[in-house]
Amino acid sequence: MSNRLNVAPNDLSAFWMPFTANRQFKQAPRMLVGARDMHYTTADGRKVLDGTAGLWCVNAGHCRPKITEAIQRQAADLDYAPAFQMGHPVVFELANRLVDIAPQGMDHVFFTNSGSESVDTALKIALAYHRVRGDGSRFRLIGRERGYHGVNFGGVSVGGIVANRKMFGTLLTGVDHLPHTHIPGKNAFTRGVPEHGAELADELERIVALHDASTIAAVIVEPVAGSTGVLIPPKGYLQRLREICDRHGILLIFDEVITGFGRLGTPFAADYFGVVPDIITTAKGVSNGVIPMGAVFVRKEIHDAFMTGPEHLIEFFHGYTYSGNPIASAAALGTLDTYKEEGLLTRGTELAPYWEDALHSLKGEPNVIDIRNIGLVGAVELQPIAGQPAKRAFSAFIKAFEKGFLIRTTGDIIALSPPLIIEKGQIDELVDGVRAVLREVE
Ligand SMILES: Cc1ncc(COP(=O)(O)O)c(C=O)c1O
Repeated sequence: MSNRLNVAPNDLSAFWMPFTANRQFKQAPRMLVGARDMHYTTADGRKVLDGTAGLWCVNAGHCRPKITEAIQRQAADLDYAPAFQMGHPVVFELANRLVDIAPQGMDHVFFTNSGSESVDTALKIALAYHRVRGDGSRFRLIGRERGYHGVNFGGVSVGGIVANRKMFGTLLTGVDHLPHTHIPGKNAFTRGVPEHGAELADELERIVALHDASTIAAVIVEPVAGSTGVLIPPKGYLQRLREICDRHGILLIFDEVITGFGRLGTPFAADYFGVVPDIITTAKGVSNGVIPMGAVFVRKEIHDAFMTGPEHLIEFFHGYTYSGNPIASAAALGTLDTYKEEGLLTRGTELAPYWEDALHSLKGEPNVIDIRNIGLVGAVELQPIAGQPAKRAFSAFIKAFEKGFLIRTTGDIIALSPPLIIEKGQIDELVDGVRAVLREVE
């Protein structure tokens, strides 16, 4: 039987592709028709080394048997169960397994279907938490410049990427932003966590002085900002944010949609930095990207604050038709089994020094103005072509794909985040591929 999906469609016009240069793509499509472990297969039969774990999500590599089998089994047993006022055993088992690996104290989990939904869920939990405690004047949300928290209105409002914000009106009111932590003048070509910039966390004190702590519900940051081009927090920065939040009764939310599930060589970035927030948002790696799923972890005190009032009444008016969908839950259990059996949540720690050396060997290549790395994430920042921002990196992306490497670019930054199963030889292949591309692009 032929696989319908492997037949190249002859009309690409109907599908309005997300976050894509649609006209460019449709003139020269980059079609993927298969995947296994570290590689994609293209429609023209080429193998492409996955340097980005899909979209930062395929942490266990592609088409892993435990995950495929779990999905197949679940689809045959229980395809869907109502998410509201009904349950099914798989999602309860998953919640228990997740809180077992989450940072200490994060012992409740709320399911969503994406990172954007996890972020909006976390923001709503934060606002409602203060209100159920009788502290409803805390309505402000603080994000950070260059932050990416998905594309829903809450996430865009606290996010700090101008192209994602400028088209969409006033967004949420009552939002303020911390400055970003990128200081290339002092930190360029740092290996790992940069030395300078912890004092940027003190800007939160300035925001508190402006609005008063009694109006601020939560601060949300990515521990390592991913989508904006891999910005690693300066030494001591996250600790300082935690201290300031504690001083003022402000909840701290870590958006770990990228950093969760082993990306830094620890299960969560909270473990890596030794800073435990009040809420953690995740998605992507929770189900290896195979079936959409997100999970929001909260501390016991936050969850318990809602568990008041008559017992027949709903405690939190929020949720999605597909929250904890059985097949997504099964995929996530298969993912956790794979992570455990192969030690993937900590494998990045072993590989990080090799990864770091390989990436920094690109210093001195044409147009490279900074290299950043942490765990199994890296970024190579290029000098933009004058008057044509993002063009150089986009050309590098296209050329890399032609040469058999999937990389990701934002602006003029190349971001790399391979599946956590990558071998040293494949790290060399990927970095040498980027080197060859840098030598060829204008
Ligand atoms: C930190 C962070 N938050 C939220 C999101 C949004 O996730 P999704 O695309 O699943 O909605 C992303 C996606 O890259 C992300 O990196």
